[in-house]
Amino acid sequence: MYHNFDYQATLTSSLRAQWQLDDVLREDQELDFSRNFMPESLARTAALDRLNPFEQRILNQISAHEYLSIFGIVEEFILPFVLDHARPHLTDDDWRVRAILNFAGEEAKHIHLFKRFHQAFVRGFPVECQIIGPSHDIGAEILRHDPLAVGLVILMIEWMSQAHYLGSIRDDGDIDPLFKSLMLNHWKEEAQHAKLDTLIVEALAEGRSEEQIDKAIDEFFEIGAFLDGGLKVQAGFNLDALEKAVGGRVEGRDAMLDQQHQAARWTYLGSGMVHERFKATLETLSPNAAKRIAEAAPIFA
Ligand SMILES: [Fe+2]
Ligand SMILES: [Fe+2]
Repeated sequence: MYHNFDYQATLTSSLRAQWQLDDVLREDQELDFSRNFMPESLARTAALDRLNPFEQRILNQISAHEYLSIFGIVEEFILPFVLDHARPHLTDDDWRVRAILNFAGEEAKHIHLFKRFHQAFVRGFPVECQIIGPSHDIGAEILRHDPLAVGLVILMIEWMSQAHYLGSIRDDGDIDPLFKSLMLNHWKEEAQHAKLDTLIVEALAEGRSEEQIDKAIDEFFEIGAFLDGGLKVQAGFNLDALEKAVGGRVEGRDAMLDQQHQAARWTYLGSGMVHERFKATLETLSPNAAKRIAEAAPIFA
């Protein structure tokens, strides 16, 4: 066994780490717009030397708004996925039922938190920032795929949110403390989700042939390509918002669009594809599945 995750221990840790919305972001709390919100390793806005420091910070804040909006979209399809997985086994194992329903409840709370963040952002930011969507259509397109492929996409996302906090956000002294604490609290609950999703993926893969797993990986890539298309559109929306905020067209927009699309590819896809825990699950499903995803990962770096 490459892990020791189980439903009872995960639920116990989850209940211990749980927080209330008002402990993390009260409705009247304000973000500090004189600071960056996102770490540079994800936003890559300080690398844009055609922008002055003020413009870089504006784009950094736009990318933070994108981050929590995209997490909101993702969690909206995680919620029905997790509930679908719980429903057929409501009388089997009490720990399992409670752990999975708690997972769903936490994602619903995160969706609520991200909406509250969006309201705080709108109060303090000078222009409207458009987000891809509607979220329901994005979710429907993803959920029409093989549940194993969807489960793997979610597993990749859960682990990457761990890597983002531990690897980039926790030790960044530059970013707004309120935004940072929001990410800290999200990370705390996500740590348990990643374990539960590992168990869900294992259950979905049970009894499948190598060929069936390979087909699920094809669908994993289909979902990845669909998300990547959305990230490119979103990178354009972000530059539109930047131009509106600074009152004019930014120089070198095409190159900037490519660079920001690549930053988003790493943030939302690549950083999950190379996560050790995600790779370990793939390896136990099928070494070939692990190899296929490892070969694709550099495109998203
Ligand atoms: Fe979440
Ligand atoms: Fe989660």
